[in-house]
Amino acid sequence: MKPLFKGKHFITLEEWTKPDIDTLLEVSKDLKHKFKHNEPTPYLLYKTAFLMFFEQSTRTRNSMESGLAQLGGHATFLDTSMMQISHGESAKDTATILSSYGHGIACRNCFWQIGNKYLREMAANATVPIMNLQCDLYHPMQAIADLMTIQEVHGKTEKLKISVIWAYAKSHKKPISVPVSQVLLFPRYGMDVTLAYPKGYELPEWVIEKARKNAAEHGGLLTITHDQEEAYRNADIVIPKNWGSWVTNQSDAVIDDLLEANRHWKCTEARMALAKPTVSYMHALPADRGNEVEDSVIDGKHSIVYQEAENRLHTAKAVMAMTMGDK
Ligand code: CP
Repeated sequence: MKPLFKGKHFITLEEWTKPDIDTLLEVSKDLKHKFKHNEPTPYLLYKTAFLMFFEQSTRTRNSMESGLAQLGGHATFLDTSMMQISHGESAKDTATILSSYGHGIACRNCFWQIGNKYLREMAANATVPIMNLQCDLYHPMQAIADLMTIQEVHGKTEKLKISVIWAYAKSHKKPISVPVSQVLLFPRYGMDVTLAYPKGYELPEWVIEKARKNAAEHGGLLTITHDQEEAYRNADIVIPKNWGSWVTNQSDAVIDDLLEANRHWKCTEARMALAKPTVSYMHALPADRGNEVEDSVIDGKHSIVYQEAENRLHTAKAVMAMTMGDK
């Protein structure tokens, strides 16, 4: 397989054209088929990548680590608290040195107003592709797996009503990167995106402007509402998920009065009944069960969360296979 995007950074899908993303999806589909049929995929034989994590992860770490092994290479997991970063070593020095040891660097850094800048500084100094495993602004690995799953389940994307809905959770103050990536990407595929949240949980204004521009260019729509029932009504896909109030309140306290005032923002069977009978329930996971969503919904017939999580493997492999190659 030819690494068509050799050396290209994967920091946000906004920097990838629609034909580029379509190519990644085609490669993901092929890799999924080959994985299911035990066909070898030695596209990154003897290649190495470094996976730097400032935060916890289940899906992202393991899809990258097992994915690179399945491509014939090796991924080194790096807990950044055990690196010299914790003593102040710069992104520039870290990226320059790791570039000389391997073929790709992937990083999760979700610290508000720090994470994306950190990745950009690495990208400015690396000689290998930098892959974003989630930052304060974007989670492209999640968004492309979501898109693949929607195409598989619904067979199309155009004119689907897809609702990205804030939901109550108290596990941690979650980044905004998942909803930001979704509202930017889905209108590019002609979807009618409804973004629903209680006041105080706004996404950045530049995101809304860009999402509207993407919608205008590709025949999609972006509607904003503070009424969660409106978002569920007649929806083809719902994505009820928590995100933190980072835009209006930079404190990293998890629980505050605004959060507690919105406990009723929860995905319930009654709300799911407002959607189309064929509605899909999606969530990037981990879900805060009982708070964001009732068990009977996430475990019910509309839920496609495990397929969505599984596709993280195939899309991660496509990104690595297409960007990492001979130096
Ligand atoms: N959705 C997602 O990124 O999961 P992890 O945090 O487990 O990697």
